[in-house]
Amino acid sequence: MKGAVKADTILCNAKIYTKGRLMDGGIAIKNGKIAKIAKEPNLPSAFSRIDLNGCIALPGLIDVHVHLRDQGRAYEEDFFTGTAAAVSGGITSVMDMPNNTPVTMDSASLKERMQTAQQTILANVGFYAAFPERLEEIGRLIEQGTLAFKLYLTTQIGGVDINDDEALLQAFAEAEKFGIPTAVHAEDKAAIDAASAAEQRRGHSDVNAYLKAHTPDIEAKAVKRILKIIRKSKAQIHFCHISSRETEVLIRESRRTGLRVTCEATPHHLLLTSSDLRRQGMILLTDPPLRPEGTTEELWKAARSAQIDIIASDHAPHLITQKTADSVWDVKPGIPGLETLLPLLLTKINEGKMELHDLIRLLAENPAKIFHLRSEGFLEEGYNANITVVDMHRRGRIEADKFHSKAKFSPFDGWHVTGKPVKTFVEGRLVMDEGKIVAKAGTGRILRSQINV
Ligand code: NCD
Ligand code: ZN
Repeated sequence: MKGAVKADTILCNAKIYTKGRLMDGGIAIKNGKIAKIAKEPNLPSAFSRIDLNGCIALPGLIDVHVHLRDQGRAYEEDFFTGTAAAVSGGITSVMDMPNNTPVTMDSASLKERMQTAQQTILANVGFYAAFPERLEEIGRLIEQGTLAFKLYLTTQIGGVDINDDEALLQAFAEAEKFGIPTAVHAEDKAAIDAASAAEQRRGHSDVNAYLKAHTPDIEAKAVKRILKIIRKSKAQIHFCHISSRETEVLIRESRRTGLRVTCEATPHHLLLTSSDLRRQGMILLTDPPLRPEGTTEELWKAARSAQIDIIASDHAPHLITQKTADSVWDVKPGIPGLETLLPLLLTKINEGKMELHDLIRLLAENPAKIFHLRSEGFLEEGYNANITVVDMHRRGRIEADKFHSKAKFSPFDGWHVTGKPVKTFVEGRLVMDEGKIVAKAGTGRILRSQINV
C-alpha cells in the first residue's frame, strides 16, 4: 500500500482467525506487534514475506499450567527444552508453576528464575509464585512480575499454612488487592494422607490403591473448602485441572452466587480414563488421577458450553525411571503434555467433538483474560505477534521419542492425529517451522504482570 510504513514481515496466503471468524488475507508484523490484518492488496510492503500456504493463523496459544523445572530439577526439564516443546506444540506462551527447587516464593527466587529463563526461552514465559510466609512479600512478588499465585492443597508448598483458612483468605485477598488471581490445586491433603495410609496398611501398592486415595470426593472437598473461604470476598480463584462433574457443578453454582471463580481441564482428563491407567500402568499416573468412563463426556460438555474456561496441559515432566517403580507410592505423578495438546485437540475438532472457536476461547482468549495478559490472546492490530499456524489436514502420529521435552514418554504415544501446528511465531519471529526449532534461544519474552504496583 502506498505511503504506509514498511513492515518487518508479511505472513501471506493465510486464513486468519480474527474477530471470531476466519478471514482470507495476510498479517503485517512490525516490531513484534501486529501492524495490520487485511486482504493482501491492502497490506503495506515488508522486508520479508512468509507464505502460509492457505493454513490457518490462530492467536498464539497460551498454556497456563506448565512445569518447566530447570534450576535444581533441570535433569527433568529446563527452560530451553520445555519452551522448545511448547513452540513445537504450537504454544507461544506458557505459565510456569512454582513447585521448583528452590520453590518460587519470594521476589529473590522469582528474580533468579526469570534471569535463568531469559537466556534460553523460545516461548514467552510467565511465572506463578507460591505464597510467601509474610504477607508484605506478596506485593514485592507482584512488583517483580508474578502473574498469579499457586496454592497446592495436596502438600505444603510455600509459606502459608494450608490448614489455616484465615491465613489463606488473607493471602487471596492480598493478591486480589493488586488484581492478581490465585490458582488452586484442589485435592484435600488430610483426606489423601488418611486414605493412602489405610491402603498402605492393607499392603496395597497398585494403581487401584492410588485411585482410592485420590477420589473425586477428595477433590470436591477441597473445592468446597476454598469456595467457603472466599464466600464473602472478591478474591479471584482459578481451579486447576478439575476432573469430575461434581467439581464442575460446584464451580458453576458458585459463579451464580457472584464468586469470581474459573477452572481448567487437561487433555488427559478429557481423553483418557482410569481404565487406561490400569491398562497402561504407572506412566499415566497424574494428580488428580484419571477418572472412570463417563466423566470424560461430562468434561467435554462443560468445555464446549464454557463452564470450563481453559484447557491447559499440566505439562509435568519426570525422568522415566521416576515413573516406573513397582509400588505406586514410589511413582512421581505427572505427564508431559506440551507437544500433544494441540494435535489432539485439532483431531477432536476434525472429529466434530469441538469447534475451532472453542479452542480459541479455551486456549487463547480466556487465558489472556483470566491472567490479565493484555497484549495476548487475540489476532488484532496492536496485539503482540504471537501466532500459531495450523494445518487442519496434516496427518501424523504422536512419537514420544521425538519430543523436544526431556520427558520422552506419553500416554498418547502412537496415537494417530489429523491436524498439526506447522509454524509458530513468538513476538513476530518464526521459532518453529515444520517441527524444527529455527530461532535462537532467548527469543521468548518474560511475561510480567501489567498491574500498577
Ligand atoms: C505435578 C508435578 O509433577 O509437578 N504433578 C502432577 O501430577 N500434576 C505436581 C502437582 O500438580 O501435583
Ligand atoms: Zn497440579
